Amino acid sequence: MAEAPRPPSQEFHSVLAENRVFPPSPEFASRAHIRSMEDYRRLWDEAERDPDAYWGARAREELYWKEPFQTVLDWKPPHARWFVEGRTNLAYNCLDRHLDKRRDKTAILFEGEPGDRRKVTYGELARDVNRLANGLRSLGVRKGDRVGIYLPMIPEAAVAMLACARIGAVHSVVFGGFSAEALLERMNDAGARVLLTADGGWRKGAVVPLLENVRKALPQMNSLERVVVFQRTTQGALQLSGKELAWSELVSKQSDTCEPEWVESEHPLFILYTSGSTGKPKGVLHTTGGYAVNASLTTRWVFDLKDEDVYWCTADVGWVTGHSYVVYGPLMNGATTVIYEGAPNHPGPDRFWDLIAREKITILYTAPTAIRAFMRLGDEHPKRHDLSSLRVLGSVGEPINPEAWMWYRDVIGGGRCPVVDTWWQTETGSIMLSPLPGATPTKPGSATLPLPGIHTEVLDRQGNPVPANQGGLLFVTRPWPSMLRTVYGDPDRYVRTYFSELPGKYFTGDGARRDNDGYFWLMGRVDDVVNVAGHRLGTAEVESALVAHKAVSEAAVVGRPDELKGTALVAFVTLKQGVAPSPELKKELGAHVTKEIGAIARPDEIRFAEGLPKTRSGKIMRRLLRDVAGGKQTTGDVTTLEDLNVLATLRNNEE
Ligand code: WT7
Repeated sequence: MAEAPRPPSQEFHSVLAENRVFPPSPEFASRAHIRSMEDYRRLWDEAERDPDAYWGARAREELYWKEPFQTVLDWKPPHARWFVEGRTNLAYNCLDRHLDKRRDKTAILFEGEPGDRRKVTYGELARDVNRLANGLRSLGVRKGDRVGIYLPMIPEAAVAMLACARIGAVHSVVFGGFSAEALLERMNDAGARVLLTADGGWRKGAVVPLLENVRKALPQMNSLERVVVFQRTTQGALQLSGKELAWSELVSKQSDTCEPEWVESEHPLFILYTSGSTGKPKGVLHTTGGYAVNASLTTRWVFDLKDEDVYWCTADVGWVTGHSYVVYGPLMNGATTVIYEGAPNHPGPDRFWDLIAREKITILYTAPTAIRAFMRLGDEHPKRHDLSSLRVLGSVGEPINPEAWMWYRDVIGGGRCPVVDTWWQTETGSIMLSPLPGATPTKPGSATLPLPGIHTEVLDRQGNPVPANQGGLLFVTRPWPSMLRTVYGDPDRYVRTYFSELPGKYFTGDGARRDNDGYFWLMGRVDDVVNVAGHRLGTAEVESALVAHKAVSEAAVVGRPDELKGTALVAFVTLKQGVAPSPELKKELGAHVTKEIGAIARPDEIRFAEGLPKTRSGKIMRRLLRDVAGGKQTTGDVTTLEDLNVLATLRNNEE
């Protein structure tokens, strides 16, 4: 059973002492979409006075609606329906809408890891999307059917998502770094009929064997009818068989035009699997209208996005950041979005800076773990390149420590670019807490304030507001358009996970505090979810992968603070009778987790133990394990331990 949320620990001491403030420069502010705190407050008040009027106006501004909506929000806690009677299509909003003005504008600026480059214009993207959409229809894919996407970071990943949206099919993207087993579990849960994949993708000079993984899983993918394979890494004709079909063949005979499916606002757009506190990942379901309104609006406001910007969000489309801020948000705004396929340090430590200088990228949105890694590599790499095109820097995925924030601002942004630390989640669909770069004075390490219309509060478990400067639990207390609608196939889990802590209020799973200015400071997860290098993992998932190994009797996985990754994974493992602990076995268990989930879930450290500390009722004492893993003194009451010797054994076994 999952542990009850605990109040956040005070791990980020440097953050607590942080008192630097950086107001936006007058030059930046004078040209920004939102230019002052007065602008921000005016929008905030407008949303407060009449939320329906506020969101209704935003929805009409952001999207083309084939059929208008009358009802802005139908809220029967905890279920929301937004822009209820409206009909729209997201591919139409990302493409067709721009063709008059931007047919020849670059929509996607692509760079492959080997150095190949492509500029895909809005006209070309619309054509490619329509052909694939027609191709999917020719395979029998209809509105509401699920389509899996398991692709590298190439323009076809965006084409695939938009082709699904065009015909009302529900996409479920699986990160290319996930294993065959993880892919299988997700495709079966979603009931995908078609899977769009590639022979492989490039990463650190090697090929990620996507098709090989698909083939391993294929015999057990019970709903899957066809696999469409894009050729990326191999030469010569693809050798395909059975359910497999070449992408090029599927699209070659298709028309360049495709009538969009005008879907209801609440028609499902995508399912994206994310980790929770049980072993099974949750299929977070987002619908069309509300998601689109928020994704579009926040991309423009938070990054101050303009028509002439070259915008680069470095996330993979396998994560929600890639959905909202690589594909949908920028394309709805008619922007140029950069897609880079490979590793940040390949072939050299300055790959990112080289790309930024060469393409004159103006907005960069990346993760603290990447920033810390670059910081460690040394200033000489960014300093060799002209980064003067940059004007806004974004951070997402985990708390950013003030040191990394300052380095990002000074070394990458030349002290001139506002840094926007954006807090949100797969479930929220779009950014919730963030500075507006032309308005909000920033503080290193704080995600600052909620966007207009967003109500976040720090509460205790009884629902009382927590006084300033004290840690509590972060809730979203009112519905917002891009909120998840359910957990696919498990509606009870939606209610249980997000709305049972305080009825009617969305529980984020994060701890936070507010300072005297009302600024939010995120303090990390309070459930059994950890953020490893910006990747969200459930400790229970890793545990169930470990106990699936024949040598393992029991496993407990916890996070410990890590300078580079934010959190590192430590696994405590007890072995079956007669199995001897050895360094080889540790390696084997690491490889086993990689096979079951993916390399991102491989524990950084495995410790063998003779037993795990448990309460009298048999619950593993994770708090104790976290302390042991972090090398801290044990605090609190250990008398409920079934066997105190267990702790001593763990302590002695720290090698
Ligand atoms: C969790 C959500 C949607 C962004 C990509 C990750 C952590 C995210 C921040 C931030 C502190 C952050 C939270 C959150 N997180 N952004 N700016 N400051 N923490 O999405 O995989 O759904 O993970 O990432 O713990 O709950 P995700």
